Amino acid sequence: MKVRISASLMCADPLRLEEAVRQLEDAGCDWFHIDIMDGRFVPNLAMNFETVRRIKQISRVPLDVHLMVEQPEQYLDQAIDAGSDIITCHAESTRCPIRLLEKIRRNNVQAGLAVNPFTALHQLRYLVDYLDLLLLMTVEPGFAGQKFIAAMHAKIGEARSLVGGINLAVDGNISTGNALAALEAGANILVAGTSAVFKKGGSLAQNLRQFRESLDYGRSGR
Ligand code: DX5
Ligand code: ZN
Repeated sequence: MKVRISASLMCADPLRLEEAVRQLEDAGCDWFHIDIMDGRFVPNLAMNFETVRRIKQISRVPLDVHLMVEQPEQYLDQAIDAGSDIITCHAESTRCPIRLLEKIRRNNVQAGLAVNPFTALHQLRYLVDYLDLLLLMTVEPGFAGQKFIAAMHAKIGEARSLVGGINLAVDGNISTGNALAALEAGANILVAGTSAVFKKGGSLAQNLRQFRESLDYGRSGR
C-alpha cells in the first residue's frame, strides 16, 4: 500500500503556521493532519475549523482532520464546509458510527474512524465497508510529545488483518525509531508530530526528508 506521511500541524509553531504549511508542501508532504479537540473528549484544545479553512486556501495538500470531540455529529457540517479531505471521528465518541461515516462519504469526504489504545478492535468488523481509514492511537489522545504504548505494535497487525486494503494510520510518538516497525506490522499512514517532522533541530523540510529516507533505507535494506 502507498505509504503516506501526514504531518501533524498542531505541533507546528502557531506563530509560524503558514510558513510550516508552505515549507512542508514544497518538501512533498503527503497529507496534513489537523487535530480538533473540544476539551471534553480530551482535556485539551487544539486547532479549529477556521484554521482548516485558511490552510485549505493556501495549500493543495489533502487535509486529514482528526476530531477528538464528544458528539462528533455536531461538528460534521463545519468540518466538511472547512474543506476537510478526510474526517476521522473517534469510535468512543458516538453510538452510531455507521450513520456518521455514511454522512461523511455522502459529502464526498473520506471517512475515518479512530480508536484509543484501550479500545478493542473486534466490533470494527461490522464497519469495514463504511471506512476509508482506520486510525490507531498509539498514545492516549489529546497531547503531543507522549510515549508510544508498546502494546500497540501487536494491535497494528491485528488491525491490518481486520481492515484489508483500507488506509491504516498510526498517531502518537511516531519516529524514525518505530515507524518502520509500524509499516511492517501493516500501517501505511504515519502521523508525524514532535517525534519526527516537528522535532527540534533541523528545518521542517530536512526533518521530513530524513524521516522519509529512514523508511526507504530500512525497507530497501532488507
Ligand atoms: C495526539 C495527536 C497527535 C500528535 C502527534 O493526540 O493526535 O497528532 O500531535 O504528535 P507526537 O509525535 O508528538 O505524538
Ligand atoms: Zn491526531
